[in-house]
Amino acid sequence: MRDLLLDLHLTTRKQRGLEAALRDAIRSGRLSPGDALPSSRGLAADLGLARSTVVAAYDQLASEGYLITRQGASTRVAAGQWIPEPPAAGRSRRDYRIDLIPGEPDASQFPRAAWLRCTRDVLATAPADLFAYGDPSGLGDLRTELAAYLRRTRNLAVDAEAVIVVPGAASGLGQLARLLRASGTTSIAVEDPGFPFHHAILGREGLQLVPVPVDAEGIDTDRLAATAATAVLVTPAHQYPLGAVMSPERRARLASWARQRNAWIIEDDYDAEFRYDRHPIGALQGIAADRVVYLGTSSKTLGAGLRVAWLVLPPELRQAMAEQRGRDSDVSQLTQATLAHFIARGDLDRHIRRMRTLYRTRRNSLIAALRSALDHPDIHGISAGLHLTVTLPSKAHEEAIIQDSLDEHRLALWGLNQHYRTQPGAHGLVLGFSRAAADFDTSLTQLAQVLHAH
Ligand SMILES: Cc1ncc(COP(=O)(O)O)c(C=O)c1O
Repeated sequence: MRDLLLDLHLTTRKQRGLEAALRDAIRSGRLSPGDALPSSRGLAADLGLARSTVVAAYDQLASEGYLITRQGASTRVAAGQWIPEPPAAGRSRRDYRIDLIPGEPDASQFPRAAWLRCTRDVLATAPADLFAYGDPSGLGDLRTELAAYLRRTRNLAVDAEAVIVVPGAASGLGQLARLLRASGTTSIAVEDPGFPFHHAILGREGLQLVPVPVDAEGIDTDRLAATAATAVLVTPAHQYPLGAVMSPERRARLASWARQRNAWIIEDDYDAEFRYDRHPIGALQGIAADRVVYLGTSSKTLGAGLRVAWLVLPPELRQAMAEQRGRDSDVSQLTQATLAHFIARGDLDRHIRRMRTLYRTRRNSLIAALRSALDHPDIHGISAGLHLTVTLPSKAHEEAIIQDSLDEHRLALWGLNQHYRTQPGAHGLVLGFSRAAADFDTSLTQLAQVLHAH
């Protein structure tokens, strides 16, 4: 058992104090991925706490994605997204290149000229109340444009009243989690593997996470039905991170599960605009608008710095959401008006078409680099989105490749295993091909060198 020095501020909320100290130890790098924590009994004795307090704190941090708990084995620190953030005294994050970390589009390609023209038009013509407080649900013009865009491109059953504008899918998910919690939902099923950042948001709002495996057709609906969850978070268009497209049969089963159980499906449609070798597939919301809450974002098409995303709510949740929303998650009206104009003029469609071509080329280069370095690489999820996944034979391979890329080339990579809530999960790399990178090709050569060496 390891000793653990925690910076504890135990007031009356002992569990909260312990959680904060553990989080701090992990974020600051004093506890590293893979480190075993003391047993709950041992730590409780050391700190003079009830064992149940330690167990509850460990569980909370596991649901936030910081720890991995396993029956009969030590609780360990999960490999997390904070890895590239080294301790303050060491190298700063800027010392690492994050060209192949998935998540963001190429910021250098932001359509500045078109956006400038739209901003000018809006400033020249908008009524004065654009610069006053607006409707907390979003600007009417943008909700109308988004509804039309989503009907046309994603086959949603939606009108403007169903759309709510939020500053990021993450914000929308947090608001939804709060709403579900307030209406009595205690647990939510999540895809395993899935997106740890979203799992952490749900955990922070007090929802118990129930991991459900995914396969080549998407989430396993039989396993889902065997849980007691009354909500589920899914990525049907392009499963994150493995890339499966949910099959029509699974979609139908998921919809009927939700109807039978009166459950909610949260559809995270984060990168569906980008598809390469297959026909577009409509959103799940289109076949179950009564049970699906749809989440879309501009973070992948335009840029995460814009902070504009949207929720599409089923009728039953609209009133409760309107009552819950304050002004703490408004999006700038000027930005909303500009985006509405940008969509109306066809600029968004044009930009996406242009980016699709660019990303297809980059994706092909990444696949070629993997094929040059590995014999018959096992690559998943290449037909859509901004990332792909390549599996590796073992944990040792994954860890060594990530470490060597950092040490030898300052190239940060994301491991696949950290996306699993249930261990042992698969091992590999989740590789983005959309970052702004003048040296994208250099990153690929370096990645291929490291892979080849292993
Ligand atoms: C799976 C997934 N969903 C959603 C998002 C979009 O997040 P946001 O709109 O909060 O920027 C991301 C961004 O990384 C993502 O990877």
